[in-house]
Amino acid sequence: MQPTLPELPAGPIGILAAMPGEIVALLGAMRAQRAVDLKIIGQREFYSGELFGRRCVVVLAGIGKVAAAITATTLLQSFDVAALVFVGVAGGIAHGMAVGDVVVADAVLQHDLDASPLFPRFEVPLLGVNRFTSSAPLSNGLARAAERFLAGVGAGRLHRGLIISGDQFVHSANHVRALRDSLPDALAVEMEGAAIGQVCDAFAMPFAVLRIISDAADGDAAQDFPRFLEEHASRYSLGIVKHFLSGDD
Ligand code: ADE
Repeated sequence: MQPTLPELPAGPIGILAAMPGEIVALLGAMRAQRAVDLKIIGQREFYSGELFGRRCVVVLAGIGKVAAAITATTLLQSFDVAALVFVGVAGGIAHGMAVGDVVVADAVLQHDLDASPLFPRFEVPLLGVNRFTSSAPLSNGLARAAERFLAGVGAGRLHRGLIISGDQFVHSANHVRALRDSLPDALAVEMEGAAIGQVCDAFAMPFAVLRIISDAADGDAAQDFPRFLEEHASRYSLGIVKHFLSGDD
């Protein structure tokens, strides 16, 4: 029986991540709970099954905006999903962000999109917007889940606001400063969230993006990122998604 959580859509939830380390524990939990159906489409493995009492489709999206857009579009077109949730890690770029903090996006923006002077910098050509707003009910649910998880860990803070995406691994203090200068309200940088936002906008599909801070996008990022991914990312994703899906707050 599907528990009724008023803030979550009734149908299956599509859960995406960019790296295997971000979803390996979720897939393990899904396999442990019920039989899982695997479909391979467009070189991607879509796992349908039950996760903490809810029907879900879990898929590894790959890295970058194009990979994320292919995966999200396939998920929407080939599976009966009612919402998309992207989980993974990000570089913290706002002052006061620390490794192990969690960010839930209120909106997402492509920081490397620049068709100026034809369109204002960051604006998605012909759409007239530069950011896509996430679903408030989904994001509220994720934020509550993250708060509960972080309370259990005993470290890390929850932030809500703008997450920016681009096809670049940001790894220098100068680049972070430039991003802060042009997008002062950006909290974290990653490589997929805004692509999910644009696809979901095109299909009128609710979405949410949750990121755990793995690095500061500075000169140490190339070391900090894989270390966090290996040591913590899977546990954080599993723990937060478990609270989110089971609505145990
Ligand atoms: N994901 C995690 N850390 C990142 C960074 N520094 N740049 C882009 N994407 C990331």
